Amino acid sequence: MTAPDTRPRIPVMLPMLGEAEAQAAAEAVRSGWVAQGPRVAQFEREFAAAVGAAHGVAVSSCTTALHLALVVLEIGPGDEVIVPSLSFIATANAVRYVGATPVFADVELSTGNLTAETIDAVRTPRTRAVIAVHQGGVPADLTALRKAAEDWDVALVEDAACAAGSTAYGRSVGTGALIAAWSFHPRKVITTGEGGMITVDREDWAVRLRRLREHGMNVSAAERHASAQPVLEAYLETGFNYRMTDIQAAIGLVQLGRLDTIVAHRRAMAVRYHDLLADIEGLVPVRDPVYGQTNFQSFWVLFTGALEGRRDEALATLAAAGVSARRGIMAAHLEPAYDGVESAPLPVTERLTRHSLILPLHHALTEHDQEHVVAVLRELATS
Ligand SMILES: Cc1ncc(COP(=O)(O)O)c(C=O)c1O
Repeated sequence: MTAPDTRPRIPVMLPMLGEAEAQAAAEAVRSGWVAQGPRVAQFEREFAAAVGAAHGVAVSSCTTALHLALVVLEIGPGDEVIVPSLSFIATANAVRYVGATPVFADVELSTGNLTAETIDAVRTPRTRAVIAVHQGGVPADLTALRKAAEDWDVALVEDAACAAGSTAYGRSVGTGALIAAWSFHPRKVITTGEGGMITVDREDWAVRLRRLREHGMNVSAAERHASAQPVLEAYLETGFNYRMTDIQAAIGLVQLGRLDTIVAHRRAMAVRYHDLLADIEGLVPVRDPVYGQTNFQSFWVLFTGALEGRRDEALATLAAAGVSARRGIMAAHLEPAYDGVESAPLPVTERLTRHSLILPLHHALTEHDQEHVVAVLRELATS
């Protein structure tokens, strides 16, 4: 029998959850209202206010948020939606959920994001929408993308799954497009376990999104419960059960109160990584773009020059040294689910996905941990 592995491990991500979240969840349970109810409504109001949107609609995940965003935009069979292949696969899958065709566009090397030029290269008369991802928290250039979308008369959706607390042109991301989708998965900077949010300025869309997430009902279960008179609900269209629970929202409200602190701390740790990595030639860490600030949800490092091709070796070496790193952001077009789907050449996407890795970054990471991570990479670079 082999001895258990007792080496200290440095996880790549750790949600910052404390006693306040535990108590908030317990209070929701004690209240007897555990499904979508008053805490969800409060979380929607507070989240929308925090990002500067008129309405928030809480849902079960960012994947379901993206799905509903495309439903309200009335995108369907025969339509094309431009997405980055360099994204978690849910971005492209959401397009398939509505029967439309995802068309992959390349990204720029420094941000990992779509640009007006990469979209233009794959645009056709059937393009109805673009989903711009703020990859790993790095804001996409919303001013340029919004102008391009308006010029071409296509809808711009923001996949802000990773980007709570990131800014572009001095404003939160999520307010530069028609509609934005957010994630509260534990891998994100704030979490509700699972969960998502749609932010939108148009009230008629907010009303329809609320209906769609709850089976197409014209009155919510919470409103029916609150009414003294019997309420005969109607089902106005085919909807979904994409609701968030009040237990999740209770946790989300506490997490939202921590957002600024979490992001400030992540940014300070990123600066420290930048300093520590500065003298290692061939390792290029992600940075803020000129027009905005990232929350560093993912701190990736690109292997270039003499180190290009050594990413997988680095992952294995880090793992052996007790450091849990991750391969770079995935590329959907390289996955079996998208086999046989034709796309334009995606050289930058392929370079980023094959030659980058994501380093640990979370509130419990110590300065010593960061020094250890970088020492392992330095040794690899000089060997
Ligand atoms: C860019 C992006 N979009 C969508 C998602 C899906 O989010 P969720 O897990 O909340 O469905 C993720 C999750 O990793 C993501 O990174």
